Amino acid sequence: MSTATTAGGGDHGGGSHGVAIAAERRWAIIVVAIIALLVAMMVITGLHWSAMPPSRVETVDVKTLHLKGEFVESNLGTSIENDGKVTVRLVAQQYSFVPQCIVVPAGMPVTFRGTATDAIHGFIVGTTNANTMLVPAFVSTFTTTFPHPGEQLMPCHEYCGTGHEAMWARVQVLPAAEFMARARPGERLSCVPR
Ligand code: CUA
Repeated sequence: MSTATTAGGGDHGGGSHGVAIAAERRWAIIVVAIIALLVAMMVITGLHWSAMPPSRVETVDVKTLHLKGEFVESNLGTSIENDGKVTVRLVAQQYSFVPQCIVVPAGMPVTFRGTATDAIHGFIVGTTNANTMLVPAFVSTFTTTFPHPGEQLMPCHEYCGTGHEAMWARVQVLPAAEFMARARPGERLSCVPR
């Protein structure tokens, strides 16, 4: 009687151990599958879209930013380079962007080059995928195309201090012909926010 009970208890113990091992194996398989899926997504996006870390290491001296080089105030805004490419240069500081209103053509590639003077800032242009951080001493750059004319809000999206929520600029996307009519070689375009 007592032997049978002991044997029964032993069987019961072995059964729950088996269940535990099966459950652990099941969860191990699920976790490995999730990790494999994430690694596959990284490999596919990396190879298929040539996705890379967003900032290359291009540095700029914060102390002389306003005095010389690419980011002096007279060089900020939109320009047509000698090779015909459209480049927007901007600087972020607590709590504004320079220029406050950015003009770009619709349907043409636009390269943004920006940096920050004091804290980490960032921006996103409306509902587009134009989106970057601006870090002091580093130049952030990306190229994008705005398909439709119109005006977009460009808020700072990195918390940069007490005035963060009031820090934003506007982007006016003009029809390409109108933009080209306004642009002058060697000049920097910006606009007045409406
Ligand atoms: Cu600048 Cu938040």
